[in-house]
Amino acid sequence: MSEKYFPLSPGELSGLAEKYGTPFYLYDERGIRKNIREFTRAFSIFPAFKEFFAVKACPNPYILKILADEGCGADCSSMPELILAEKSGILGRDVMFSSNETPEKEYIYANLKGNILNLDDITHIPFVEKALGALPDMISFRYNPGSLKNSGVNSIIGKPEEAKYGLTREQIFEAYKICRDKGVSNFALHTMVASNELNPDCFVETAGIIFTLAAELKEKTGVKIELIDLGGGLGIPYKPGQKAVDYTGIAKRIRDSYDRILVPAGLDPVKICWECGRPVTGPYGWLVTRAIHEKHIYREYIGVDASMADLMRPGMYGAYHHVTVNGKPDPVDFSDGTVKSGLQEGRDYRIYDVVGSLCENCDKFAVQRPLPPIDTGDLIIIHDAGAHGRAMGFNYNGKLRCGELLLRESGEVMEIRRRETVDDYFATLDFRGLASFNAKSSE
Ligand code: LLP
Repeated sequence: MSEKYFPLSPGELSGLAEKYGTPFYLYDERGIRKNIREFTRAFSIFPAFKEFFAVKACPNPYILKILADEGCGADCSSMPELILAEKSGILGRDVMFSSNETPEKEYIYANLKGNILNLDDITHIPFVEKALGALPDMISFRYNPGSLKNSGVNSIIGKPEEAKYGLTREQIFEAYKICRDKGVSNFALHTMVASNELNPDCFVETAGIIFTLAAELKEKTGVKIELIDLGGGLGIPYKPGQKAVDYTGIAKRIRDSYDRILVPAGLDPVKICWECGRPVTGPYGWLVTRAIHEKHIYREYIGVDASMADLMRPGMYGAYHHVTVNGKPDPVDFSDGTVKSGLQEGRDYRIYDVVGSLCENCDKFAVQRPLPPIDTGDLIIIHDAGAHGRAMGFNYNGKLRCGELLLRESGEVMEIRRRETVDDYFATLDFRGLASFNAKSSE
């Protein structure tokens, strides 16, 4: 996808902004369904395939319900995410619990619900055994392969050899042996070494490594891996002109490795899984905010009513999110993928920093970006915010996180999460203690 799409007309968006107030997130059910069907179809060349949607990317039960309806499971990383999956009808072994530094009670909960425990370290074996009284029937481990040819430059997840996740090669053999000897009967194997990666070679290489490891595990320990989880990390084209990952192409190349490595090892059929978040909902969600101030100092600033507390990615990673202005044409021709190229003839533009209200200078949705001249009151659309967007929101500076709207396939718009109120912000405080506080403490 090289063109940035938005599912509503300028008039329809203005109507929504009037009705619900800004800022808000908007998700497109039609886009989500169409994309997940294409994704699932591409990977259905495996004997059994499952996408465990990474709940952390978009933890809203209405979105999870859509994905469950399309056959997805859930990848959860905490107790609230486990509960969200369950409430959305995703149950038992359709839930992969891929957590790290996990508290005992979360393992107990996931086990009680029959979810698959994906352990991040060899020391978690005795930890889980003690917490549950015995190891569960099925166990998965996360493998960290160390340095890799095609995945050494990932700015979000870091280099595998520097990343905190997973077991080393030596540990992984030991871990499966221990579990085998303790009577575990079903085994899965997981890895994830990239984040927002558009290079297909990275995933093909990783699949080859993990398939080879599964074959070696069988040979050296007798453990038969029945589920291989390739993790998440498939990227999306945040910049116009970038090319989306070709699901069918990747699936075919991974299938070649499957036939070359797993079939001769006697492991066929193995269930192949992803736990992607970003490509599933990312391009189908937008943060809509209103320009409320303009400021002309050493740069031209447009101040909006959303902030980094609503969408942290640009501030945290310097991530690019495309920005458009409702009803005003993009002044830049992005068709060759570079922002510098072709300011379109006859289209007026200004170079802006689009900024939020946090006391942090990194609270900028766009930096030195050519945009159409913006008037106070204009609606600003921040694209590709459907994954790791609202989910990463926070309350610094007393900012109240915005709500979420869903554009149904019918065209109807539904509020699937209301905006936060001051009462929500104060919900964890008890002001009643204040009246006598100083008196008590000085006694
Ligand atoms: N599985 C595990 C174990 C993960 O840690 C993650 C993301 C995923 C699946 C989903 O990855 P995805 O397909 O969404 O890339 N907040 C960052 C991304 C952090 C990724 C952490 N793990 C961002 O805004 O880009």
